[in-house]
Amino acid sequence: MPQAEFRPFPSTEGVIRCGSFSVEDLADRYGTPLYLYDFDFIRTRVRTFREAFQDTGLLLAYSVKANGNLGLLSRLGTLGVGADIVSGGELFRALQAGIGPGKVVFAGVGKTEEELRAGLEAQIYSFNVETVEELHRLEEMARERGGRAPFGIRINPDILSPTPHEYTRTGHAESKFGLPVQVAVELYRWAATRPHLHARGIDVHIGSQIVEQAPYKRALMSVLEVVHLLRKEGIQLEYLDLGGGFGIPYDGESMDIRALGRELTPLLKDSELRLILEPGRSLVGEAGLLVTRVLGLKVAGAKTFVITDAGMTDLLRPSHYGAYHGIRPVVEVENREVGVVDVVGPVCETGDFLALDREMPLPGPGELLGIENVGAYGFVMSSNYNARPRPPEVMVDRDEVFLIRERETYGDLVRGEVIP
Ligand SMILES: Cc1ncc(COP(=O)(O)O)c(C=O)c1O
Repeated sequence: MPQAEFRPFPSTEGVIRCGSFSVEDLADRYGTPLYLYDFDFIRTRVRTFREAFQDTGLLLAYSVKANGNLGLLSRLGTLGVGADIVSGGELFRALQAGIGPGKVVFAGVGKTEEELRAGLEAQIYSFNVETVEELHRLEEMARERGGRAPFGIRINPDILSPTPHEYTRTGHAESKFGLPVQVAVELYRWAATRPHLHARGIDVHIGSQIVEQAPYKRALMSVLEVVHLLRKEGIQLEYLDLGGGFGIPYDGESMDIRALGRELTPLLKDSELRLILEPGRSLVGEAGLLVTRVLGLKVAGAKTFVITDAGMTDLLRPSHYGAYHGIRPVVEVENREVGVVDVVGPVCETGDFLALDREMPLPGPGELLGIENVGAYGFVMSSNYNARPRPPEVMVDRDEVFLIRERETYGDLVRGEVIP
């Protein structure tokens, strides 16, 4: 029986909790701003994917770009999860965290020779190749090393995926990602004549924060067409990587993973391919809360600003993508006046905001707010702009709590800089 899924960060007796801890206590202990992750929730998401796609030989390759913290990655590794990486740095992280190289797939439109070499040396499961030059380079390097390089080609299926922001669409013909079907087929044919290449699979990733099933079905169908064509020519692949991009409920709908599994599994039945999925956001997004303290309120003309100690340097998504994140008081106060406010950070940019025109109970100075759904593309997109040290990351797993990244110090800010 599939277990009912719980929501992370429930409120009990008016205080947000994470596992068996009060978020207020954690904020006192670690300071603010603070990234907080509920690993138990991530565990349930892993289980949901596995149950939904149980008949597909699924390799769940967590997309490290969403949140690459070593503590979180290593715990995911203990659940048997692999990694989807896009750089040598992410390969380093995955290996440091103890994820087996045999569960690593390497995507990315611009891999350097150094990165390809690192992947070959580590003996990763497969390179998801995105340019003709990349495959040629890989062949050359494998020939020089005397081995075989496993690869799949990332297909561009020419699907304009319905994502909330154009920056997160990657499957249309005029995006930089993947290769057109015809070019890919020619490359597979060429590779079949090269003894140092091993055509292991095929890959597609159409975008991020998608809540509809239809684009996945279309992407799968177009990739399966290529698989069948190649098979007729004697080129037998082992995996089909359908990428990630499954949407979470920032302010509404999310992808129903179980329903997607029911829709897609039958299509894969006779393909003799193992499925790879690369979820990032849908594994960790909802598991993150950014805890911030209100520094003050300011009225300017018709506007009311709530000024917090977290800003765009800590969470870039609102200003970069116009993204919505729910904001809740960590400790509820009854009969609070409700107002429409901009929640803004201390950074010297008008674009530094966490929410615009948000109706919410007006918090007082010193109160704590929780910014929801920040587990993915939160900390990893943070910066030191305005010489702001980045916040700590704390992971809770039921009744255990771990500081998995320390708050940066001023010393960290100037590390590596030289006064000549
Ligand atoms: C190739 C690839 N796989 C997986 C992902 C993960 O996407 P998401 O975090 O939306 O699941 C991305 C995101 O950009 C990607 O480019």
